[in-house]
Amino acid sequence: MAYTYIFNLVLNQESGTLILDRDKIEGFISDSGKKISAEAKGLDARGCHLMPSLIDVHVHLREPGFEYKEDISSGLAAAASGGFGRVMAMANTEPVNDNAAITRFMLAQAEKAHPLGPFVYPVGALTRGLQGRELAPLAELALAGCKAFSNDGIGVMDNELFRRAVEYASDLNLLVIDHCEDHYLSSGGVVNEGRISNYLGLKGIPDVAESLQVSRDVLLAAYLNTPIHLAHISCEASVELIYRAKQKSIPISAETCPHYLLWDENLVKNYNTLAKVNPPLRTRSDVLALRQAVSEQVIDIVATDHAPHADFEKEVPFAQAPNGISGLDTALSLCLRLVNRKILKLDDLSRLMASAPARIFGLPACEFIRGQPADFILVDLEQDWKVEPDTLVSRGKNTPCLGEKLEGRVMAHFLNGTPVVNRF
Ligand code: DOR
Ligand code: ZN
Repeated sequence: MAYTYIFNLVLNQESGTLILDRDKIEGFISDSGKKISAEAKGLDARGCHLMPSLIDVHVHLREPGFEYKEDISSGLAAAASGGFGRVMAMANTEPVNDNAAITRFMLAQAEKAHPLGPFVYPVGALTRGLQGRELAPLAELALAGCKAFSNDGIGVMDNELFRRAVEYASDLNLLVIDHCEDHYLSSGGVVNEGRISNYLGLKGIPDVAESLQVSRDVLLAAYLNTPIHLAHISCEASVELIYRAKQKSIPISAETCPHYLLWDENLVKNYNTLAKVNPPLRTRSDVLALRQAVSEQVIDIVATDHAPHADFEKEVPFAQAPNGISGLDTALSLCLRLVNRKILKLDDLSRLMASAPARIFGLPACEFIRGQPADFILVDLEQDWKVEPDTLVSRGKNTPCLGEKLEGRVMAHFLNGTPVVNRF
């Protein structure tokens, strides 16, 4: 028998042994259950928790065009290290991923650098050049391998164009991911509008710049009876709209990010450009509303919006710095803070970071059922690590938790039964 045993791990609070049959799951045997044959050999997981390999539906891998920030190889290495086996890469590259040649290039780069995974799923541009004027060739992009469409980085203001994009994408059986931002309302803003923007004397972005577009999308999803996915939700007003939409069974899904669940606008008080992100960090009450929304499944997914930038780009006056937080390395550890504080359960994280993204975007996620690909991570909840330029695998060191100690570490990451990370 070619079985591999991984002893001494915890699945759903039960300790036991995971058995792999080459690249597939054979089963899980709890310690209280059947005994394992004496000669069985394998890995001692030292009490680690077993979770499915994670899926991130929102990353920026920067290649082609901005390889000094990140490339597909370094981005996927960061994904592997952070526990993500599948990532959906946004189209705001240079050139933009609005044609089959770019999509094929991204897939080829990933295959070349990481043949065993993590795997990249390109997101095609919704409009040519992300300009918001005419549709990108959605069918061509789908055929080349795009798994969704988005103008992420810039909202689509033209409602008629957006409506047509949603209809075409639905004909192709793919989702539109909307970056909800009304440009007229957000224009020139660099932080959340309110107390902090007044205090710092910086132009603010009001939360209604997001929630107004959320309401448009809810109304369109209802009118067309076609699903729309909402990217990086940051405020309570949006949560309320999504909650009401779901109560009426309107086909809306939504994601938020670890930074909106952990941090509020106070982080930018000392003009810290590492905390500059779009949408901006909001108020404490927005953070609390988002926490409740992920725990009660009003928001379906936690995605990183991994947005690596070079140090020299962030080391400029606040208003000039680019938006974005590097997230792949730290996302799981940051979310484990919420587990430690009993705001979420470990099961919730498996749902928010694996099973829900898999269901919504039609990707595979391991449920530890016999015959499924053995895609999983072993997480040591007690192991701490310090966030430093050297410990971040991503080329982007731009995170406000730089210098902090995080608790919880991916000790091993298996894809199709093969370790892509092994820290034992
Ligand atoms: O903070 C952000 N960074 N928000 C976006 O929408 C785009 C992203 C980027 O590409 O850097
Ligand atoms: Zn993004």
